[in-house]
Amino acid sequence: MVITRQLIIPVPATAAIKKACELYRELEKSIPVVDASFYKDLVCPKNWKEHPYDRWFKLKEGYSSFMIKHLLEEFGAKKQDWVLDPFLGSGSTLIGARNAGVKGAGFEVNPFLAKLSAVKMHGSYDAAKLSARVRSLFTAVAEERSIEIGMPALTITKKLFREQLDTLLRIKQEIYTEIDEHVRDFLLLGLGCILERCSYARKDGNGLKYPPSKKPLPLVDTLKKQYQLMIADIEKQKGTTDHLIMNTDSRRVNIKKLPSDKSDLVHDFLDHAKFTMFSPPYANCFDYTEVYKIELWMLDYIKDYAQLKTLRESSVSSHLNKQYENDFPSTLPDLDYVVDLIPWDSTWGKHKMKAMVLHYFDDMKAVFTRLRGILGDNGTLVCIVGNSAYGNVPIATDLFLAEYLKELGFGKVEIRAARLLGTSSQQQKYLSGNPYLRESLVIAST
Ligand SMILES: C[S@@+](CC[C@H](N)C(=O)[O-])C[C@H]1O[C@@H](n2cnc3c(N)ncnc32)[C@H](O)[C@@H]1O
Repeated sequence: MVITRQLIIPVPATAAIKKACELYRELEKSIPVVDASFYKDLVCPKNWKEHPYDRWFKLKEGYSSFMIKHLLEEFGAKKQDWVLDPFLGSGSTLIGARNAGVKGAGFEVNPFLAKLSAVKMHGSYDAAKLSARVRSLFTAVAEERSIEIGMPALTITKKLFREQLDTLLRIKQEIYTEIDEHVRDFLLLGLGCILERCSYARKDGNGLKYPPSKKPLPLVDTLKKQYQLMIADIEKQKGTTDHLIMNTDSRRVNIKKLPSDKSDLVHDFLDHAKFTMFSPPYANCFDYTEVYKIELWMLDYIKDYAQLKTLRESSVSSHLNKQYENDFPSTLPDLDYVVDLIPWDSTWGKHKMKAMVLHYFDDMKAVFTRLRGILGDNGTLVCIVGNSAYGNVPIATDLFLAEYLKELGFGKVEIRAARLLGTSSQQQKYLSGNPYLRESLVIAST
C-alpha cells in the first residue's frame, strides 16, 4: 500500500494554523501586543553604513545601536546603570549604551564577534598612532617577504580567495608581528571585517554561496579604506563608558569567573545591572558558526574541525548542526500544544527539527533565568525576536518567551510588534500576511 504524505499528517495544515492562531489570540488577552512599526527599520537597520561603529561590519542579524539608545532613554537609564546583552553579535547594544552614557556588559560565544565588540569599546586608542601603524603595515606588505605562517585548515580557503590568498596571508603575517595586543586586535579586526567582500563567497541565508558574477574587491585598497573608516570613528568618539565583555556561552555563564583585575567592575555591574537588551538567535535553523566561518577560520579563532564542533555545541540550539539526543525537553504546555500540531514526521522524516525547536526554548529559559537573577527586583528586559514557522504552522516565539518571563516573576510584560516576516516559498502561500509571523520587542519589568 502506498501511504501518501497527506495520510500521515496528524492535522491538515490549515486546521493546524487555525488552532495555533486561536491559542495565540487567547494568550494575547493577558499579554498586550501593540503595533510598533516605528521599530521596523531599527530591528533590521537599512542605513547602517551611515552610523559610526555600526558601519564597521554588517551583521545581517544585527539591529541599530540607535534603537538601544532610544530604549534606554525611554526607560530613564542613568549613568550609574548597566545594560547587559547576553548575545552581543556586532556589539550594537554596547555602542547604543555608550551613546546614552550608560555602562554596558555583554556575552558572545563567537570569538570573532566578541573581539569586534571589544575593539569597538576599547577607549584608549590613539588615532594618530593607529594611522602610522597602518602605513607601516602596508609598507611591509609591499616588500613581499616570504610567507611563513600556515594556511588555515578550512578546506575552502583557496576557493575563497584564489589569486588574493598570498596577499591575505602576508597581511596577516605582518599583523602578527605587532606586539601591542590592542593594536594587533584592531588590525586583525579590520582584516576580518572585509574578508567576505574580498572573497568569491557571499553570506546567504544559512551559509556561503559562490555567485559566478561575484567580483572580489581588491584586498589592499579595501583594507586601507576599512582602517580609515574605523580610525575616523575612533577619532570622533568622545570618551568611553565602563564595560565588560566575555567570550562565553550565555546559557552557562558564571559572571563571577571574570578575570580578577576586573573584579571592581564586576561588583559594580552586579550592584547596578538594571537593564538587559538583546536579540538572541531565532529558532530558524541559522547556524552562526557556518555563516561566519570565513572570519573564524581566516583569523585563526578556529584551527580545526574539532574546535568548530565545540563552538557549535556551545551555541544556542537554533540550528541543526548540533547533536540532539532524541529527547524533547518539557517546556510550556502551550508550546507543546503548538509543536504537536506540526507534521514533523511527514515533512522531515526524523525528529531533529522538533528537538531543535524544543531545545531552543529550553536554552532561552536557561538564559532568562540567569538574567532574572542578575537584574534582581528592579529591572527591565527587552528581547528582540523573530517568530518562525514549521510545517506551515507559525511558532509565536515572542508569546512563548513572554510566558516564560511571567513565570519568572516579571510583573509587567508587553509585546511591540515591529514588522511582519517572510518565510520559505513553500510556506508563504499559507502564511503570507499571518500576524504571528512577526519580529517584535518583548518588554518585561520586574
Ligand atoms: C541575533 S545575533 C545578535 C545581534 C546583535 N544584537 C547585533 O546587533 O549585532 C545573536 C548572537 O548570539 C550569538 N550566540 C549564539 N549562541 C550563543 C550563546 N550560547 N551564548 C552567547 N552568544 C551566543 C551568536 O553568535 C550571534 O552573534
